[in-house]
Amino acid sequence: MIARLRMILDCLIAGMPHGASVAKELFDSNVSDRGSLMTTIDAKAVFLQMVGGKEEHFFQEHWRKRILFMESVLPQLQGFYDYHCFLEDYKRVDVGEATLLVSVTGAGTRRMVRPKEKEAVQDALDRGISVVLQALMLPETCATAPQQWRWFVALHDALCEYLLPGFPSRITSGGVIAAVDIFCTASESSTGGHYDTGDVFYFVLDGEKEWTIEPVPNIEAGRRLALNYEVDQPSLREHMTLRLRPGDCLYVPPYTYHRVCSSGPSLAVSLGLPTFTEVTLLQNELSRLQQEQALYQPLPSYPRGQHALYCEAAKETRRRTLNILESVSLMTAGFPQIPASTLAEVSPVINSASPIDK
Ligand SMILES: [Fe+2]
Repeated sequence: MIARLRMILDCLIAGMPHGASVAKELFDSNVSDRGSLMTTIDAKAVFLQMVGGKEEHFFQEHWRKRILFMESVLPQLQGFYDYHCFLEDYKRVDVGEATLLVSVTGAGTRRMVRPKEKEAVQDALDRGISVVLQALMLPETCATAPQQWRWFVALHDALCEYLLPGFPSRITSGGVIAAVDIFCTASESSTGGHYDTGDVFYFVLDGEKEWTIEPVPNIEAGRRLALNYEVDQPSLREHMTLRLRPGDCLYVPPYTYHRVCSSGPSLAVSLGLPTFTEVTLLQNELSRLQQEQALYQPLPSYPRGQHALYCEAAKETRRRTLNILESVSLMTAGFPQIPASTLAEVSPVINSASPIDK
């Protein structure tokens, strides 16, 4: 996975056009070369800026506990990219299926649709609908993607490696979401009140965004209501209003209520980091093993009346399933993934005792 991400980063950086001075300066200021074939964003340096230089304070008081709104901590983002440049790039690039149109109807429904044609996007903007480019869904071969999109994808991956070491970073299954979403609006609009299941870092690039937000997560309500994402949810607890401008950074913990509005043209980026539970982590790892199709030996099974064989089969089943769980726990401790082939060892006693072989 890491090698693949590095390869993507190399491609992204190699394809960076020259001449866009502000974007290039930002890129250069946060990128370090580590060998000829490996280039990555200096995640720690950017992250320190994002949290105002107080990393320890962030982890003690905010990470997974409370929002953090930092004003003017990323002055490089002022002038980095704007609404008009985004629309020009959007028209030029093959964005495939990576677009969502998000709006709130009069009946309080959050409507999310994928446009069938690019032309629908301008019409949607004219009607006060938010256009969301989901950059992680872009085809990997998308060589024409502008450097600003690539920079945020690279930042997302770098933050995942820094903040979530050992966890998978590009996952969209089992309710776990990783996202680099670029929000574009042309007029007064809202994406509706809701809860996200992962950690979010949010940046405005052009215009202004108004956030109605609860300062702390509400895991109980959020867990329930995050599934009901098609409803424009009201705030249930004490909340505040924040106005975000270019250069600001907002951290939002999982299951924190928020509602984001724009009053005119705006452009913003939301980095959604995947946040796992024990169950979703296991789910994810098990799907990987399933996709590799290396575990194909059936678990043994015998009637209870065949007592000795039944007990041996139960032991074998326990041994093999615990092996899988151990592989996941090793992975989260930062160890490399255990190849599925090494987990596929089957007890010869049980295997040879198969009734079919007898
Ligand atoms: Fe959100």
